[in-house]
Amino acid sequence: MKIEFSKISVPTQGTVVVGVLAERALSPSAKQLDDLSGGAVSRAAAMGRFKGKKNQVLAIVAPQGLSANQVLLVGLGKVEEIDALQMGTLGGTVVGALNRAGEASAAIIVDALDACPLSAVEMAAEIALGARLRGYRFDKYRTKEKAEDKPTLEGLTIMCAQTDAAAKAYAPRDKVADGVFLSRDLVSEPSNVKYPAAIVEDIRALAESGVDIEILDEGKMAALGMHSLLGVGQGSARESYLAIMRWNGAPDGADQQPVAFVGKGMTFDTGGISIKPSAGMEEMKYDMAGAGTVIGLMKALAGRKARLNAVGVVGLVENMPSGTAQRPGDVVTSMSGQTIEVINTDAEGRLVLADALWYTQATFKPKFMIDLATLTGAVIISLGTFQAGLFSNDDALTERLIGAGKAVGERLWRLPLDELYDKDVNSEIADMKNVGKGREAGSVTAAQFLQRFVDEVPWAHLDIAGMAWMKRNHTAVVPKGASGFGVRLLDRLVADHYEA
Ligand code: BES
Ligand code: MN
Ligand code: ZN
Repeated sequence: MKIEFSKISVPTQGTVVVGVLAERALSPSAKQLDDLSGGAVSRAAAMGRFKGKKNQVLAIVAPQGLSANQVLLVGLGKVEEIDALQMGTLGGTVVGALNRAGEASAAIIVDALDACPLSAVEMAAEIALGARLRGYRFDKYRTKEKAEDKPTLEGLTIMCAQTDAAAKAYAPRDKVADGVFLSRDLVSEPSNVKYPAAIVEDIRALAESGVDIEILDEGKMAALGMHSLLGVGQGSARESYLAIMRWNGAPDGADQQPVAFVGKGMTFDTGGISIKPSAGMEEMKYDMAGAGTVIGLMKALAGRKARLNAVGVVGLVENMPSGTAQRPGDVVTSMSGQTIEVINTDAEGRLVLADALWYTQATFKPKFMIDLATLTGAVIISLGTFQAGLFSNDDALTERLIGAGKAVGERLWRLPLDELYDKDVNSEIADMKNVGKGREAGSVTAAQFLQRFVDEVPWAHLDIAGMAWMKRNHTAVVPKGASGFGVRLLDRLVADHYEA
């Protein structure tokens, strides 16, 4: 789907989309269409349940006087309540409705509205972003799909009086969408295609956008003492990697202290010797979504030339059972020097993050460190698919993260870290074990384990197990499948608080 910006005119083909405010008050462009069609638009809007509430839609067969196929009325609600999130939803909702209708082209007319908190330019940019995010589809392996089952919308024109300003406001958002799409693509790929070395190649491609890449193979990780990470990969025929991405966009140079993002990149999680039941195991292809988010975020930051230094570190590993696999009860020594008794080989994500977090803080001394991981099934039991679990040692970082999440519609809910839970990961024979007390507070004990690998640095852990993959269409801008959760959130955090 191609998105373009143009001046406002009355389209002569496809669908024309215009806004209607609360209580069926027509926007200026809806009024114009109403006049052209002898009152047909206001008559249709007065009928039935359509009241102009936020994101209500009503399709009208093009009335006489218009040569387009149809007019789509979209509710704007109360003008003073309009915000960016709503405009993104509007763009996504319209794309969904157009594809359902089988439309090939459409124009959305964006008027400047009196008393609206957003300018027409801002509205146009947010609508375009929402439209693009909704248009995502991973279809590279569908070779026999019938044309009538495919999305139909080819072109969307956003009409706005200040065309150039709208296109300019959209440009950085388009780069963020590129990052979301990279993340969704990586997560959607099956694990026979996206083994660790394959993701390393995708990461190397970010060099084109100006990202510096460094790759640690098993030999280098062994030399650094990363036996916690290496133990997880030792049952796999595929080599494990730690990939480091650096974007140096700070105006005062590469030695400016960076912010850091760390991702769990389990390209497949069988559970290892503590093997998972087979029902639903195919879902564990998305167990690299934390890494997928970090990679997509680095692409977004580089794409829009964010004015700060950022590092992304991802541990890429495959968790397999085999004759060389790690056994329950094995003890490994992490890069930090702390020893870990591996009670359950299915609690592998924390073992990878232990070394990735330690390496990141020791090497880069970042301003903050945020990790993302599909870490526990327990967080899905707690929060479902509407919010990710947030754990942090820093209240200010927490507040900023929650705020950024609300702004982009990627919500976070803080869960506790506390000494009371920390005790649960003590081991009888090593410094700690990789599980807590049975199933109690499973997401919390996982976070406590991670905290043992974090020093003084402000740190947050996002457990995205419930957010990375949607079994059905989720919101207007997140179709079913890989969500790309976290790219927009962290891009926003950086843009609001850490850019020069
Ligand atoms: N990757 C899983 C967590 C997960 C579950 C992600 C469902 C997405 C959907 C993780 O490695 C895991 O297996 N966690 C175990 C931990 C347990 C063994 C302490 C879990 O949640 O059951
Ligand atoms: Mn697991
Ligand atoms: Zn896992």
